[in-house]
Amino acid sequence: MGAMDVWLADAARVRGRRDMERFTRLHPEAVVDFAGNDYLDLSRHPQVVAAACEAMERHGAGARASRVVTGTLQVHARLEQALCQLTGREAALVFSSGYTANLGILGALSSPDTLLVLDAHIHASLIDGARASRSPVATFAHQDLAALDTVLAERTQRRAVVAVESVYSVLGDATDLAAMVEVCRRHDAVLVVDEAHGIGVLGQGRGAVHAAGLADADDVIVTATLSKALGSMGGAVLGSAALRDHLVNAARSFLFDTALAPAPAAAAASACAVIEAEPSRVQRLHDVADLLANELGVARTPGAVQSRPMPSAADAFRVSQQLREAGVLVGCFRPPSVPDGISRLRVTAHSDAAHSDVCRAAQLIRELTSVGAPA
Ligand SMILES: Cc1ncc(COP(=O)(O)O)c(C=O)c1O
Repeated sequence: MGAMDVWLADAARVRGRRDMERFTRLHPEAVVDFAGNDYLDLSRHPQVVAAACEAMERHGAGARASRVVTGTLQVHARLEQALCQLTGREAALVFSSGYTANLGILGALSSPDTLLVLDAHIHASLIDGARASRSPVATFAHQDLAALDTVLAERTQRRAVVAVESVYSVLGDATDLAAMVEVCRRHDAVLVVDEAHGIGVLGQGRGAVHAAGLADADDVIVTATLSKALGSMGGAVLGSAALRDHLVNAARSFLFDTALAPAPAAAAASACAVIEAEPSRVQRLHDVADLLANELGVARTPGAVQSRPMPSAADAFRVSQQLREAGVLVGCFRPPSVPDGISRLRVTAHSDAAHSDVCRAAQLIRELTSVGAPA
C-alpha cells in the first residue's frame, strides 16, 4: 500500500466511525423530489429551457474566457438587468456560482482593518470566503442580535462587514432583516445578505431584502445563487453601481474565473421574467409548504425548507434511505452539516408538488419515524 492509499484509508475509517459517508448516486427520474432546491419548478419550465437552448445556439456552449477578457456576453448583461428588475437593486454582477459570488464579495471587502462577522449558522461558502480573505474574522451566536451588537461595539478594526442568510439553508429559519440592519447601522457595519433561499421565495419572489424595504440601501449587499428558485446555475452580487465597479476590479473569483456559460445565464434571466409574470407560482410554493409542515407536524418556516428533527444521525440516514426506496427523496442532514448538531430530514416544498405526493411523503416519514399522524 502506498502512502496515498494509507492516507485515504485513514480518512475513510474516520468517516466510517462518524457514520458520515456521502455518495454521489444517480437518482432515478421517477421519484418524488422533496430534496432539491428547484422551489418554483423552473428548471424544466418550457420558457426557461427554450431560452437556454437559444443562447447555446447563438453563443456556443461556453463563455470562453473571464468576463474581463472576452467573456462578457449579451446574455450576462441581460441577466444582470433581469436580476435588478426582480430584486429592485441598482446593479448586479453575475458570477459562475453562488459559491464564487460569496467568495468574491467577502474577499473584495476584506482588509486587515475590516472585521468580518459571521452568523454561526452561515453557509460554508461564506465561511470559506472569510477564511480566504485578508480580514480578521469573528462569529456571533445564531440570530443573536445582542451578541452581534457586542462584537461590533468591541471591535478594534475601523470597518466591519456582517454576513447572514435571509433564509437559512438547513433549518429554514429567516433573519429579521430590519432589526439586523439597525444593529449594523449603529456600528457603521455593512450587511451582506445571502438570499440563496430567499429570492424566488419571499416577498412575492423578489427576496427578503426587497420585502424588508431595503432594496435601495447601499449598506445592504445581496448575494444570490441562480441554482435554486431560478432553476439554473450561477451566482450574483447585487447592490450599488459603485459596488459593482469595485467587484469587477477586486473580486478574485470574478476576475480569475471563466464567465458563466451562456445557456444557464439565459435560463436564469428567463426564470426572473417567469417569476414576475406568474406570481401564482410563488403562492403555490407557499401553499405546498403550508401543507408539508402541517402534514409533517413541524412548525412552518417562512421559506420552502421545512425541517424535521430526528432522534439520531443513524435514524436520519435510515429513514432517508427507506424513503428513497419508496421513491421519495428528502435531504438527510447529520453532523457536521447541521449547525445545531441535531440530525434532521430536510424536506423542501416546490410549487408543482401534487397534494397527494406531499401527503404520501409526510405519511411515510411519520410511519418510518414511528410518530403518529398530526392531530
Ligand atoms: C445559503 C447558500 N449560499 C450559497 C450557496 C452556493 O450556491 P451555488 O450552489 O450556486 O454555488 C448555497 C447552495 O448550496 C446556499 O445554500
